[in-house]
Amino acid sequence: MSLRETEDQYLLQTYVKKPITIVRGEGVHVFDDKGQRYLDLYAGHAVCGVGHCHPRLVKAISEQAGKLLFFSNSVYNDIRALAAQMVCQSAYPHSSGVFFCNSGTEANEAAVKIARRATGRPRVIAMETGFHGRTMGALSVTGNPKLRGDFPQNLDAFTDFVPFGDFDAIEATLSPDHAAIILEPVTSVGGVKVASRKYYESLRELCTGNGTALIFDEVQTGFGRTGRMFAGLHWDVEPDLCTSAKAAAGGVPLGMVILSEAIRSAPAPGEHGCTFGGGMLAMAALKANLEILRDEKLPEHAAEMELVVRDELGAVPEVLYISGKGLLLGIELECPAKPVIEELFHRRILVGGCDRPNQIRLLSPLTVQPEHIREFAAALSESLAAVKQPA
Ligand SMILES: Cc1ncc(COP(=O)(O)O)c(C=O)c1O
Repeated sequence: MSLRETEDQYLLQTYVKKPITIVRGEGVHVFDDKGQRYLDLYAGHAVCGVGHCHPRLVKAISEQAGKLLFFSNSVYNDIRALAAQMVCQSAYPHSSGVFFCNSGTEANEAAVKIARRATGRPRVIAMETGFHGRTMGALSVTGNPKLRGDFPQNLDAFTDFVPFGDFDAIEATLSPDHAAIILEPVTSVGGVKVASRKYYESLRELCTGNGTALIFDEVQTGFGRTGRMFAGLHWDVEPDLCTSAKAAAGGVPLGMVILSEAIRSAPAPGEHGCTFGGGMLAMAALKANLEILRDEKLPEHAAEMELVVRDELGAVPEVLYISGKGLLLGIELECPAKPVIEELFHRRILVGGCDRPNQIRLLSPLTVQPEHIREFAAALSESLAAVKQPA
């Protein structure tokens, strides 16, 4: 039996996979078991922000692994203290505390729970196309019908869904019963979209006036992806709770809720917890990751690379428009994206799709360079020509 057959036999078949076996990564490239090189413009699912196997990240994890792999939150630890301080100081101006867990889903569930505890209110407003995770609690605020299916059943009885970017709909829905509004500041899986500055500013004002917590799900947008460390900084709009995961520790599982001073004391001791949250390996990775982002100015670089993408793809006639910010970009084509993504794969370039049928999603490592973007633009033109050819 081949190892691919072994994986298919023993793993639940919940993922659609590409027919490759990836065994190694370096910077913006990954390599298969035959030594073939792929340009990864998807960052292993928006995770490898500083590139694959960044030497400083690998060194930090290796050193920590030899020192202390794990001890729980029932004791103090040096690397946890330093990483927590650094992430709060790198996030929003009023970020004053952090809760660590293992994934984006757990972070969003914790954020909703804390907002309910802080306000004593039951209801949440979430976006119709939003995605916040797949476990039952996170699904209860995930509007995206493809991901929800009929799973939430009565779990979402306390959620009101509104369209992303529609402030009037939020204003009409918000009541004194609402604990929180949760949204991805730049949407991704549901199609890449950014709202107007006015939308975010008005949301902030409305939440403050109503005593409702504003939760930004920055699981994808956090850690430099949109050209700022966190997306709300583009509009000087600070959430009360900011969740993040994915690129936080460059590939080591880590989720978190970053909280402002006003809300951080809402959960009482013992009211929330996570065994692995704040584990030493993840903390060493987080600290090294933040140092790399700072020293290599990667958020700033992501903002520059967005301009290169817009410039290079502007010359491709089949590209209708490009949405998003930094290196979270949706490339809207005049034709279905799926066959084009397959053609790009044949040319050994990895990109993502999303719920918009004609959209390609670019979520490359932040270390991507103009030559990689030019390589992608040329391969995209070839791929578009290939899908137009009669079979
Ligand atoms: C915006 C957003 N929130 C939450 C999640 C869930 O994160 P995780 O898969 O780490 O649980 C994702 C995953 O893609 C996401 O994109």
